[in-house]
Amino acid sequence: MKLGVLISGRGSNLQAIIDAIASGELAASIAIVISNRADAGGLARAELADIPTLVMPHKAYSDRATYDRALAAALKARGVELVCLAGFMRLLGPAFIDEFPNAVLNIHPSLLPAFPGLAAQQQAFEHGVKIAGATVHLVTAELDAGPIVCQAAVPVLDADTAEALAARILEAEHRLYPEGIRHMMGSNWRVEGRRVVRLPPPLQAAEPTDG
Ligand code: GRF
Repeated sequence: MKLGVLISGRGSNLQAIIDAIASGELAASIAIVISNRADAGGLARAELADIPTLVMPHKAYSDRATYDRALAAALKARGVELVCLAGFMRLLGPAFIDEFPNAVLNIHPSLLPAFPGLAAQQQAFEHGVKIAGATVHLVTAELDAGPIVCQAAVPVLDADTAEALAARILEAEHRLYPEGIRHMMGSNWRVEGRRVVRLPPPLQAAEPTDG
């Protein structure tokens, strides 16, 4: 399966996906990494892994829908089947999402629906939750609100700082994102309302037996 990864920054989740493919954990390839920022550190990670990159600054487009259409077209031109947002700091509208039905994933550093939006780890820390975490979800036009694919819990320690908690959540993200992508790569799932439900594997034909 061909993935397209969208980034805006350092790209550590992109790196986790690259590593999961290299280790055979994910039977996929990354057809393209696109950043809306020319200075995204993740671009160098892609180049090091011989993955084609593209910089598409959103400011160069007249409005959101025009940008979304151009982004979708760039991914389609490279045969991308599943889009993974990995720290992509732009809201995507229907002009993009409708081009990839149930095939756009995001990773968010909280146990959604708690703490959507920016600085989720800091929000969780300041709120005083005892269990924080990360979520892989399908992307809809509403921010951080799509159906949940998988989650990882990260305990908040008494001695934590917001930064220490964020670092532990990030480690959990790096394990969780490849797992979420693997779930969605096959066809044995469906979306029921807000729920992503995994289906049992198809029954194998019975082995012929002697007599
Ligand atoms: C991660 O915390 C991710 O959950 C959020 O943005 C951050 C991206 O980090 N959506 P990186 O660029 O993958 O290192």
